[in-house]
Amino acid sequence: MVTRAVMLVGWLCDDEAELMMEEQWKTERQGRKAEEWANLIRVFTCPEDQETRDVLVHLMRQILFELHDFLIQNVGITEAVSLKDIADRCTDTAMNREPEKRLAEVITGVFDEVAPHAVNVASPYFVGHMTAAIPYFMVHLKAIVAALNQNVVKLETSKMLSVLEKQVVAKIHRIIYRNSEDFYLEHVQNTHTSLGSFTEGGTTANLTALWVARNKSLKPAKGFRGVEVDGLAAAYVAHGIERCVILVSRRGHYSLRKCGGLLGIGNGNVIPVDVDHKNRMMPSHLKSLIEACKAEGNTRILAVVAVAGTTETGSIDPLYEISEICRKEGIHLHADAAWGGPTLMSETYGHLLKGIELADSVTIDAHKQFYMPMSCGMIFFKDPTSLDAVAYHANYIIRKGSVDLGIKTISGSREAHCLILDSALKIMGSRGYGLLIDHGIELARRFAREIASRDLFQLVTLPELNILTYRICPNSAQEELKRANPERYNAINAHFNEVNRILQQEQREAGNSFVSRTVLEQETVFPGAPNGKVVVLRSVLMNPLTTMEVLRDILDEQEAIYRAWLNGELTRKGRASSLSSS
Ligand SMILES: Cc1ncc(COP(=O)(O)O)c(C=O)c1O
Repeated sequence: MVTRAVMLVGWLCDDEAELMMEEQWKTERQGRKAEEWANLIRVFTCPEDQETRDVLVHLMRQILFELHDFLIQNVGITEAVSLKDIADRCTDTAMNREPEKRLAEVITGVFDEVAPHAVNVASPYFVGHMTAAIPYFMVHLKAIVAALNQNVVKLETSKMLSVLEKQVVAKIHRIIYRNSEDFYLEHVQNTHTSLGSFTEGGTTANLTALWVARNKSLKPAKGFRGVEVDGLAAAYVAHGIERCVILVSRRGHYSLRKCGGLLGIGNGNVIPVDVDHKNRMMPSHLKSLIEACKAEGNTRILAVVAVAGTTETGSIDPLYEISEICRKEGIHLHADAAWGGPTLMSETYGHLLKGIELADSVTIDAHKQFYMPMSCGMIFFKDPTSLDAVAYHANYIIRKGSVDLGIKTISGSREAHCLILDSALKIMGSRGYGLLIDHGIELARRFAREIASRDLFQLVTLPELNILTYRICPNSAQEELKRANPERYNAINAHFNEVNRILQQEQREAGNSFVSRTVLEQETVFPGAPNGKVVVLRSVLMNPLTTMEVLRDILDEQEAIYRAWLNGELTRKGRASSLSSS
């Protein structure tokens, strides 16, 4: 310590050295370095000359006000360039030492070389994933968030934005849990309690919920300071158990298995609960799994995860029945409503999520049906003290009793996304969002009828929300399947699995439209069928610009691809894939 102090004083008092440094500094500031420095500083203050700024304003205007046109002009759903070709363009790993381009050149470069190979998720013909068009104002709001560059990990770098996050979280909490005005007045800005938080997405929201559930379950005991402090091995000893499990709908998102790994219980202990032919968790199977765990004597159930809007089929688990089981057993119920949560804002279909208010925690993704730009999720807790189970403190920030949001979040530094959602809620109102939800659900129902009316298609899962699955499987084949013995059944299905796989790849690579594909259990979606897998096409209808005409075009294209395949006109063999080799 003494040596360090002496060195420090010596360094400060070394006038000669300081003078030399000052001289060197001055010389460098004259010559070339001075020019470089001036250029660098400009990057932080006022970029480019007036002429260049005019170019920039023109380019940015295209993005800010002509987003739709910009995407159509600059971004195909996918361009007919293979992934390999694109990857070959991105192999130079040497960083240039000198500046290469000015901002305007960089932006035009992005327009010319990058944007054409991005995926136009905003296209009304892109109906395959939970990523789609966003209202143009989101781009403006995102720009403001970047310009303010607030860091909501702590009050000292965000002030108003941390307070705003608490308010927005409370607004969404209120549509889920519908507590009294007094409850929200007590908690909205309470520095000791927390109704939830923003996260990077659904994965981190689920992880936060299960982290809380784990810590609450493996709580401190005599000689044990809790799992967060002493770890899982000690927790198992202290609690007299040998394993922990999480029971999850078989249709649960794979992020839940990641949680099993991250929380140290092992993803093999994230146990699937069977679903019925409507892809909803079966309470009877949940009960029997709970009984089986109890009978083992040394297994702790940390949580049950029900899904409100499954990723593959958009199904909603029976939340009331599941919550009743969890309440009786004292198990944490987490509702993963990453997709379906905003349905609560629909005046027509909000009731589909009834029972969600009984969940101990709820995930909702804002970058899904709140139409926010990537990436923003949220986690909510029924009990405003739940997040205490994962609170962390440090000396220089996130001090006890402060509003520092980083005390109770997985991430440290993060963007003030609350500003975007708060503004969007003001612009759209819950009614606006509700109407978007209504559009998606009603369009999905009409699409389902259209599919069912076509001879070449089979509707596989009906839309409960705005997601449905179907496949090419002509009526004649469907009839044959009804009479087929298991062996024949599986042979026919294997054939159509291959057909649908090829069809989806062909359509994707043609780049006019996009539906995704997934694999479901044959015996679940077709009651009475032998065990097996069925490849299905999956449509996610969230883009308000998607119409029935668009959907008919998509089906027409699929029929055309199928007919071309039947006639041996497809040339997939040896063709490079534009997105992946799958
Ligand atoms: C039901 C569900 N939960 C969680 C997630 C994971 O969300 P994210 O990709 O935002 O991490 C998804 C993503 O599609 C989802 O559908």
